[in-house]
Amino acid sequence: MLLGDNGSGKSTLLKLLTGLLTPQQGQVNINGTFGYVFQNPDHQLVMPTVGADVAFGLVGEHLPLSTVRDRVFEALSAVNLAHLIRRPIYALSGGQKQRVAIAGAIARHCEVLLLDEPTALLDPDSQIELVTLVSSLVKARNLTALWVTHRLIELDYCDRAVLLRDGHVIDQGAPDRLRAVLEK
Ligand SMILES: Nc1ncnc2c1ncn2[C@@H]1O[C@H](COP(=O)(O)OP(=O)(O)OP(=O)(O)O)[C@@H](O)[C@H]1O
Ligand SMILES: [Mg+2]
Repeated sequence: MLLGDNGSGKSTLLKLLTGLLTPQQGQVNINGTFGYVFQNPDHQLVMPTVGADVAFGLVGEHLPLSTVRDRVFEALSAVNLAHLIRRPIYALSGGQKQRVAIAGAIARHCEVLLLDEPTALLDPDSQIELVTLVSSLVKARNLTALWVTHRLIELDYCDRAVLLRDGHVIDQGAPDRLRAVLEK
């Protein structure tokens, strides 16, 4: 988990990791393919239905149609949304939209999930549901997630936390210790 005040550089760091920004100095190395989940899912779901949106991310891979179908179904099952495969995106809740975005990354077999305040627009129950889901996906699929948050309760679900200030890492380590530092 990546924490820090507004303007500390969390989103900038994710954009550097994904190549949306290029560093003026130094070098960024990322091992594995990544999926990026935005704070506002309306900024990344582009197709009319759930299934079409997850399939859209596979377009560049030139896969046979049956493989696309299998991957979409498997990815939606992983986020507990297979039953909504035909549902229009506009008819989803915020938490469901975030799960569709995560399914898109899983369908592409991403190894790293970069999530920029994915719970910012969610109510407390959906917030915990999403962080629990991502933490179980990380374990079950051997993924790495870098999760940006302002909500200290989410620290319960990570195994390491990093605190940014003014573009610098000012502390990092066990979540309990970081929480104690932030709660002071
Ligand atoms: N493309 C850009 N060019 C120049 N400065 C930028 C650019 N994008 C962001 N910044 C600046 O970099 C700093 C870090 O911004 P960033 O969006 O990474 O913060 P953040 O930690 O994600 O904050 P928040 O919690 O509000 O989302 C801010 O001062 C911001 O104004
Ligand atoms: Mg940000």
